[in-house]
Amino acid sequence: MAHVTFRPRRLREKRLLRRMVRETALSIDDFVYPLFVTHGRGVREPIGSMPGQFRLSIDELLKEAKDAASMGIPAILLFGLPAEKDPRASEAYAEDGVIQQAVRAVKDRVPDLLVITDVCLCEYTSHGHCGVVEDGVVRNDPTLELLARTAVSHAEAGADVVAPSDMMDGRVGAIREALDESGCTETPIMAYSAKYASAFYGPFREAADSTPQFGDRRGYQMDPANGVEAMREIALDIDEGADIVMVKPALPYLDVISRAKSEFGVPLAAYSVSGEYAMIKAAGQLGWLDEKRAMLEALTAIRRAGADIIITYFARDVVPLLEHGAEA
Ligand code: PBG
Repeated sequence: MAHVTFRPRRLREKRLLRRMVRETALSIDDFVYPLFVTHGRGVREPIGSMPGQFRLSIDELLKEAKDAASMGIPAILLFGLPAEKDPRASEAYAEDGVIQQAVRAVKDRVPDLLVITDVCLCEYTSHGHCGVVEDGVVRNDPTLELLARTAVSHAEAGADVVAPSDMMDGRVGAIREALDESGCTETPIMAYSAKYASAFYGPFREAADSTPQFGDRRGYQMDPANGVEAMREIALDIDEGADIVMVKPALPYLDVISRAKSEFGVPLAAYSVSGEYAMIKAAGQLGWLDEKRAMLEALTAIRRAGADIIITYFARDVVPLLEHGAEA
């Protein structure tokens, strides 16, 4: 018989032993559940490429928010679908905009839930870009003012955290300054710091009707090939006052998450985006993989890479499994 001092399999055979030596645990505390809000009443419109996700009117959103809170999910992240889009994204910063109304309603009716708002213009602009367009170009500095107005209007409606996702240069600083000037000094910023120009946002753009009408987002979102630059983006956002930084998408960028975790001592979020969700859902529906296990494995990997906070459309699916020590 071979004399092998260390047999790693000794700790693998029994489920309870595996549980004891497991290095990474998913916790309900880490999840943020993204939701799409639309005008109207009684609207619960399925999003084709994101099975299990819906565009919700505020009354339906409240049901979803109550469910999430009662499951123990700490936070939701809201995206809005405006009544009308225009070149300057007016509804993004309107006092009675869909998000502003939604935030007030959720904070009023579901106090035990954090409301994070996505701060961007692309869902609200007629051209679908994340900023002001002049002569066919997305202009950085004129966009900052609109983003700052949007963030302040969210905070004034009661948002617990604002999350800029536009990737304009200097927006975290501009938002911090505007929040402070409006007396919202205590509102934290979760910055989408390393946000890549990714094909994995496809289903989201269907959900939010935010596909650019010309060109693409490569002029402001990051090149998927770049890792060092991500560290620079994150450092910049921390300098400008970001309280939480984010890497997005998650699964194709685990190395970036890991690097960010080891380089910066700040809370780190990872956004497992619509395409990551859609891939697992679609393959699961085709019977090509076990959806539940693939979901657990993907989320565990994001956590193992170093994410403190995981934004995922799977939040409601995964939480019931955690209590039973489910294995990927
Ligand atoms: C807005 C925004 C997007 C996502 C989050 N905020 C879309 C984009 O940048 O095109 C994507 C989220 C997802 O795919 O789940 N800029």
